[in-house]
Amino acid sequence: MLRTTKLIAAVALASAAAGASCGTTSTAPSYASRAAMLDPATCKSCHADHYRDWSGSMHAYAAQDPVFVAMNARGQRETRGALGSFCVNCHAPMAVREGATRDGLNLETVPAALKGVTCFFCHAVDAVEGTHDAALHLASDTTMRGPFGDPLANAAHPSRYSELFDRNRADSSKMCGACHDIVNGHGVALERTLQEWEASVYSAPGGATCGQCHMDQSADLRPVAQVDGAPLRRYHLHQNPGVDIALTPFPEATAQKSKVQAFLNATLQSALCVGDGNAGIGVLLDNVAAGHSWPSGAAQDRRAWTEVVAYAGAQIIYQSGVPGPDGDVTLADADVWFLRDCMFDAAGAHVPMFWQATRNESYLLPGQPTFDPKDPRFYQTHVLQRFPRAASLPQAPDRVTLRVRVQPVGVDVLRDLVASGDLASDAASAMPIFDVGEPLEWTAATGKFGYAEGPVKFTCVTKTALNFTAQSTPAPAHADCKP
Ligand code: HEC
Ligand code: HEC
Ligand code: HEC
Ligand code: HEC
Ligand code: HEC
Repeated sequence: MLRTTKLIAAVALASAAAGASCGTTSTAPSYASRAAMLDPATCKSCHADHYRDWSGSMHAYAAQDPVFVAMNARGQRETRGALGSFCVNCHAPMAVREGATRDGLNLETVPAALKGVTCFFCHAVDAVEGTHDAALHLASDTTMRGPFGDPLANAAHPSRYSELFDRNRADSSKMCGACHDIVNGHGVALERTLQEWEASVYSAPGGATCGQCHMDQSADLRPVAQVDGAPLRRYHLHQNPGVDIALTPFPEATAQKSKVQAFLNATLQSALCVGDGNAGIGVLLDNVAAGHSWPSGAAQDRRAWTEVVAYAGAQIIYQSGVPGPDGDVTLADADVWFLRDCMFDAAGAHVPMFWQATRNESYLLPGQPTFDPKDPRFYQTHVLQRFPRAASLPQAPDRVTLRVRVQPVGVDVLRDLVASGDLASDAASAMPIFDVGEPLEWTAATGKFGYAEGPVKFTCVTKTALNFTAQSTPAPAHADCKP
């Protein structure tokens, strides 16, 4: 108690001193230069943990990601430069604002300090001006906006509280969301994480902001700056895990990968059901932990699917979604259940690159619309898929397995970039496939009654809390999106 009181007193003194020196003339503090503040390495001396965590994040990787570099190069070529700063506006926003790049084609020579989504970029945002395409306004000063109303004065920068950095305020999601929604030059909303969050129960009171899920808060109190007299605070992890990881040597790669895996493990609830005899297989998925659709974001490039294998003894009698030897899953598999977006041009042809799209078709698992089990919408997110799609199995299985899997960027997308000469083939072979949650195995002995389709009873297994006896919604059939 005494310790806390003392600390509060110390903070109050320090802020009073800072206030006084700002208000008067002669003793105005000399902060770090703007050029120094643009460089994340400057922050490292006082915010070492933030620096470490950020340095392995996709925010730090955004302009070095070989897939990004390749796709941007191809986009500039195919549009004869019309793409301009569209991509780098989000992937290297400070480089654009400082005039170090116009199109991202020179990223190799852009100073490291300006690459990626940098500390300065986020912490200088003073207004959100729109809902997509990086509509963020930066202050012209070097004041770092953050979550604290009572920051300890420091020698590098002025500090101030902003709601945009307050995880308990919905406005903080709008800051993230301005970059996490993309509308392309043809008006197609290709990445819609913010929109999806806004349509979900998470944007309502009692929900959760982007930061509350993606930036873990420390349970303990600790200094968030390594300076004398720093107060004790809650620390917020800057790794921002999602599903993407670095494909080339990059700091913190092991930590980032295990963070992504842990996150993925909690995302879905699943159940595997098998009908009497050879009636077929039912897979139930519910996106319970992503505060938006799953997958989300770059869902046109992402490949998320279910791998279902049925056995009679040691013999495989049916399978769907088993990747080829090179990790490609877009196989000639009429049943594969892809959770993805597909893009089309004006002539209705499937297109692989997102500047080409004039239309989008989306088959993602929706975010939760309600937390109330009495609300009919509660079960709309229990999505049921049938295997084989319209027929029955060749014979009754005695064992069936299920894995939900995700590839951050599809090998088919990468191959397309290799074929156009924009991507080296080793980047393509580094792309991982993650298992999402635990695999399931059904046997006649372990299955419990789930539901009936007419006279046919389905028995189910799950390792999650998914209630497989409850109502579910059939997975929509893909229209033009193949597979
Ligand atoms: C993508 C935007 C973004 C980037 C990039 C970013 N931050 Fe933050 N930072 C935030 C947000 C949002 C918070 C508020 C977290 C909260 O309160 O939930 C925050 C909080 C902080 C805090 C307050 C202490 C804490 O843990 O909450 C410090 C200090 C900080 N960031 C430093 C840095 C440094 C240093 C870097 C670069 C190495 C960096 N940030 C990069 C968004 C960002
Ligand atoms: C000389 C040390 C020092 C350097 C260098 C430094 N900071 Fe800070 N920073 C501090 C201190 C001290 C605080 C106050 C911490 C507190 O009150 O708990 C702070 C607070 C912050 C806050 C929270 C502000 C608020 O009111 O919530 C952010 C954000 C931040 N710094 C970002 C950065 C970024 C980004 C860089 C690099 C561009 C940086 N800092 C460089 C010492 C430093
Ligand atoms: C300047 C635009 C910008 C802002 C602001 C921004 N992000 Fe990002 N974010 C990006 C980009 C670009 C990437 C992807 C980098 C890559 O994979 O090449 C990314 C990646 C991510 C990822 C990883 C995605 C994956 O597939 O693994 C998460 C999670 C994330 N951001 C969360 C946040 C949160 C939370 C905030 C707000 C605190 C935020 N972002 C603010 C641009 C931004
Ligand atoms: C209720 C918690 C929660 C909230 C709120 C939330 N997310 Fe997520 N987010 C997740 C989970 C869980 C995942 C899935 C993990 C994964 O895919 O690796 C995820 C995945 C992502 C991804 C990777 C895309 C993908 O296909 O999985 C991005 C980018 C992202 N979130 C950004 C955001 C942004 C931006 C916001 C705010 C508008 C936000 N998230 C709000 C929990 C949340
Ligand atoms: C409005 C901001 C924004 C714009 C504009 C933008 N991106 Fe991104 N990009 C993001 C965010 C946010 C992510 C992370 C979302 C995710 O991974 O789901 C991302 C992820 C990516 C990824 C990595 C996907 C993955 O999972 O590895 C690539 C590659 C990429 N973008 C390429 C581009 C190209 C090329 C352009 C221009 C044609 C572009 N982006 C324009 C924000 C943007």
